[in-house]
Amino acid sequence: MEKLVIKGGTRLSGEVVIGGAKNAAVAILPATLLVDGICTISNLPYISDVKISCKILEELGAKVTWNSNNEVVIDSRNISSFKTPIDLTSKFRASYYLIGALLGRCRAAVVGLPGGCNLGARPVDQHIKGFEALGANVDILEGKINASAKKLVGTHIYLDKVSVGATINVMLASVLAEGTTIIENVAKEPHVVDLANFLNTMGADIRGAGTDTIKINGVEKLSGNTAYSVVPDQIEAGTFMLAAVATKGDILIKNCIPEHLDCLTAKIIEMGANVEIHDDSIRVWTDTTPNSANITTMPYPGFPTDLQPQIGVALSLSNGTSIINEGIWESRFQYTNELNKMGANIINQGKSAVFTGVDKLYGAPVEATDLRAGAALIIAGIVANGETSITNIYHIDRGYENIEDKFRKLGANIQRVIEEDIF
Ligand code: UD1
Repeated sequence: MEKLVIKGGTRLSGEVVIGGAKNAAVAILPATLLVDGICTISNLPYISDVKISCKILEELGAKVTWNSNNEVVIDSRNISSFKTPIDLTSKFRASYYLIGALLGRCRAAVVGLPGGCNLGARPVDQHIKGFEALGANVDILEGKINASAKKLVGTHIYLDKVSVGATINVMLASVLAEGTTIIENVAKEPHVVDLANFLNTMGADIRGAGTDTIKINGVEKLSGNTAYSVVPDQIEAGTFMLAAVATKGDILIKNCIPEHLDCLTAKIIEMGANVEIHDDSIRVWTDTTPNSANITTMPYPGFPTDLQPQIGVALSLSNGTSIINEGIWESRFQYTNELNKMGANIINQGKSAVFTGVDKLYGAPVEATDLRAGAALIIAGIVANGETSITNIYHIDRGYENIEDKFRKLGANIQRVIEEDIF
């Protein structure tokens, strides 16, 4: 079993280069199934969700060639199966994008129920509503989602809930449908826009991504032979911005899109830190204790739930009392138990938590309860006095490439160690 061991008490400083967005990559890779040709995808993060996505594409008959860790060539001309390997799809949440992509490509899909972070109930009713509206039959049997359609016909779909997953999945299923699909009340996250840009580059006709309504004029085929570079990861960039605040550090975050982080930038300024915005980089620095602040997580452009645990670390060390209201997931606060083991003072009740700032955190053995919780615990370990060890780091590896190298270059004393299982 691998774990991260951190000797804390470090003020981070220096530069970090942000990779491609995990949540865009895990949508774009299955989208290559819709392309009757060859796509070169660059700026991919080399993380386990991406590696598994590529493995699944191979098992479906695609030819996958890695040019480097961050660039892959996918030839989907000879897709031979619509049945996905359940042992692989169960490893991450976004495997459900294979339903939309395979429905679009083969008019049929069999996909195991998705795995991924345990953030509470993660229903897929809006995905299914969208597929059915397009003409598919969908049932869930023996842990598998089976979808099939004689034909897919464009229609008007209103999502009852703003959902990234449902927006992307319905978009994937309707690109090759007959006629026009209009999806209302859609998610506006940068990865939704990035997927639409990728599909349009391959010949799709999608308009309105980034607004509340997406209109998709179905096309007969998508032709590849085109290269596409994945958008920078907004959440990775935000993680390092918050690491600068929590450690009273000075970090220049390069290769990011500052507009995607407007909401976090405003919050960081409210917390008393300094932010300097450049064309494709952001510098965050401070030498004072953060001010307390209240946060409510919301769909984009609101405060991202995926940065909630990381800002929770900074608020644990603030000079007052802060309240976080979680607007998306039921079980996003599992990390607060771990932070309390390190000396934080957090009271969690359901979807809210009260953070009373403390002067110091202290190193402790803690567990990464999910991906973003793991990132938050790394920041906590770096700022804490003494040694922190973090277990269950496979969660972190699902979403961050070389995270310990990046933090080490900023001055952190962090090592990955292999621990023999005692039992
Ligand atoms: C995506 C992100 C995840 C992020 C989340 C919210 C990926 C791979 N993952 O997850 O990191 O935390 O967006 O920004 O991009 N819901 C329903 N019915 C549905 C679908 C969703 O009720 O059919 C609810 C969910 O329970 C949740 C909310 O809608 O409360 C938002 O979920 P959604 O945006 O779909 O999250 P994911 O796409 O799973």
